[in-house]
Amino acid sequence: MLRILADGQIHSAKQLINQLALSSIAELELAISTLFDLGIKFYSPRADTYQLISTLELLDRSCILAALPVNNQQRLALLEIHSVLDSTNQYVLAQQHQVVPYVCLAEYQTAGRGRQGRQWISPYGSGLCLSIKQYYETINKSLTGLNIALAVTVVRVLSLIGATEVGLKWPNDILWRGHKLAGLLLETRYKKGCEIVIGIGINVKSPPISKNTITQPWVDLYTILGQPISRNVLAAMLIDHCLQTLIIYPQVGLTAFLDDWHNFDLSYGQTVTLSKQAEVITGTAWGIDDEEGSLLLQVGNEKRRFVCGEVSLRL
Ligand code: BTN
Repeated sequence: MLRILADGQIHSAKQLINQLALSSIAELELAISTLFDLGIKFYSPRADTYQLISTLELLDRSCILAALPVNNQQRLALLEIHSVLDSTNQYVLAQQHQVVPYVCLAEYQTAGRGRQGRQWISPYGSGLCLSIKQYYETINKSLTGLNIALAVTVVRVLSLIGATEVGLKWPNDILWRGHKLAGLLLETRYKKGCEIVIGIGINVKSPPISKNTITQPWVDLYTILGQPISRNVLAAMLIDHCLQTLIIYPQVGLTAFLDDWHNFDLSYGQTVTLSKQAEVITGTAWGIDDEEGSLLLQVGNEKRRFVCGEVSLRL
């Protein structure tokens, strides 16, 4: 039904019942209320008609594959698109197979996970919720560094589509003028080798969300770009560039990412506050360590380093 309504045109109940081969109006109403529960908003311009509040570009596997360069079309072992999942990271981690690189997207997550136990909220079809799983037999480079390399990769993609003034708050918060645009959540599982799941969430075109639901100031790409961007094309670009990074990083470490980190770093030279368990530390941020990607902080006369996972940073 959503595929029919996605064009943003007015559809009559009768037409929907016919097209979907439903047996009764009650079945249609059930479908409508299911969509409503997912946060999908309708007008009813006339009696017994339905129209989405705005057009919706649903994720489409063949569009994403077609937009991928041939080398990564061939490299990608599995691409799944789901309508609703609890969390794409959770789902991908739960799969026992080791068919990698494995990419999974969902239109909506009922329990989207953010960093440090926070939630990631993205209304149905309004953003990208994407997880990529990779497997390394051995990886002798730091995982904080991989986090950094992938965050740089995502900002590079956002720059390619014309989003300016997008920067990074260590380790991988993606902000525009102080508003949250995107984030990454890297999760790992050690089983013989190391399974890595990179979850990427990006606000693409979000309906108004109540301040009680998301307390942090946020922004979407539509606002930044002033025009729509295809979620399928953006998904393909992210997959393409992240797959590249997953190959390059274990070979060269952070060297290929340091310059851009420095370009995108929002905290360089700023006074920042770190929370590390019960401790609150204030200092001046001086970028990252070249090898590990740990945060370099001047606290009084002392230079300290912090690896991600243990701290949260406030600008
Ligand atoms: C953050 O900034 O807190 C990280 C947000 C990461 C959200 C993405 S959405 C896709 C993937 N699945 C999840 O449950 N979380 C990540």
